[in-house]
Amino acid sequence: MPQSGSLYADLSGYYDQFCAEIDYASQCDFAHRACSLFVTSPARDYLDLACGTGQHMQLMQMHGYTVSGLDNSAAMLAQAAVRCPAAALLLCDLAGFTHASSFDLITCFLYSIHYSHPAAALQQTLQRAWTALKPGGLLLFNAVDARGIRNDEGVVTNITTVDAKLSFQSAWHYRGEGEVLDLYLRITQATATGSRQWQDHHTMTALTVPQLQQMLAACGFQVQLLEHDYSVLRPWDGLSHNVIVAACKPALTGLA
Ligand SMILES: C[S@@+](CC[C@H](N)C(=O)[O-])C[C@H]1O[C@@H](n2cnc3c(N)ncnc32)[C@H](O)[C@@H]1O
Repeated sequence: MPQSGSLYADLSGYYDQFCAEIDYASQCDFAHRACSLFVTSPARDYLDLACGTGQHMQLMQMHGYTVSGLDNSAAMLAQAAVRCPAAALLLCDLAGFTHASSFDLITCFLYSIHYSHPAAALQQTLQRAWTALKPGGLLLFNAVDARGIRNDEGVVTNITTVDAKLSFQSAWHYRGEGEVLDLYLRITQATATGSRQWQDHHTMTALTVPQLQQMLAACGFQVQLLEHDYSVLRPWDGLSHNVIVAACKPALTGLA
C-alpha cells in the first residue's frame, strides 16, 4: 500500500544503507584540504548544514574538528546523535540558524543546499552562513546547474536486509524554467509477506551557476568554483553542470 510522508523521517534507519556507495571519506578529505588552502587561521570549528545521520561530522571529528550539525528532521538528528555524541545538534531549517562568527568551516553536501526553497530562502541560508562564519572562514557545498538536469530515472540503489529487499530511487526533474527543482523519491520494500512502497516529493530550488555566484557575491563571499571531483582540488572547467563551491568570507584586515 503506498504511503506518503517524509522518507527521511520514516526511513532514517535505512538512510546509511542507501548511501553506502557515497564516498564520505573523500568528501571530508577534500573539505579538510580546502580549509588548508582557503581558511586563513587553523580551522577548528565545523558546522554541517542538512547533516542527516552525521556521516560528515563523524569523519571531520577524526580530522580534529569540533563538530555541529543542523537538520530539520528530528529522526535524522537522532541517528546523528548516536553516531556523534559530542556534536552540537540543532533541529532547524536551513534558512533559520542564527550563529554569529562561530565556525571556520561550514559544509552542505549531497546537493542539500537546493533544499532551501524558494530562492529567497536559499539567499537567506547563504546569508546565515556568512554571519555564522568567522572572518576568513569557508562555506563549501556542491550544487547543480538546472540546465544540466536530464529528467531521467535518476539513481537507483538496491539493498538487502535480513528480511527484505529494498530499492531506493531518487530522481530530479526540472520543468525547463522557473526556480522549482522537483525531487522524487521512491522506496520499495519486498518481504516474504508482501511489498510496501513509500513515495515522496520535495520541492527544491533550481539555479544556474551564474545565479548562485550572484547570490554569494551579494552576501560578500569571494567565490572559487571547483570541479565536482572530490579526489582533486582544481578549478571548474565551466562545462560540467555540477560544481563544488568554495565561498570565502574575507578575513579582517585589522583596519577599522
Ligand atoms: C540527501 S540528505 C543529505 C544528508 C547528509 N548531508 C549526507 O550527505 O548524508 C538531505 C538532508 O537534508 C535535510 N533537509 C531537507 N530540507 C531541509 C531544510 N529545509 N532544512 C534543514 N534540513 C533539511 C533532510 O532531513 C536530510 O537529512
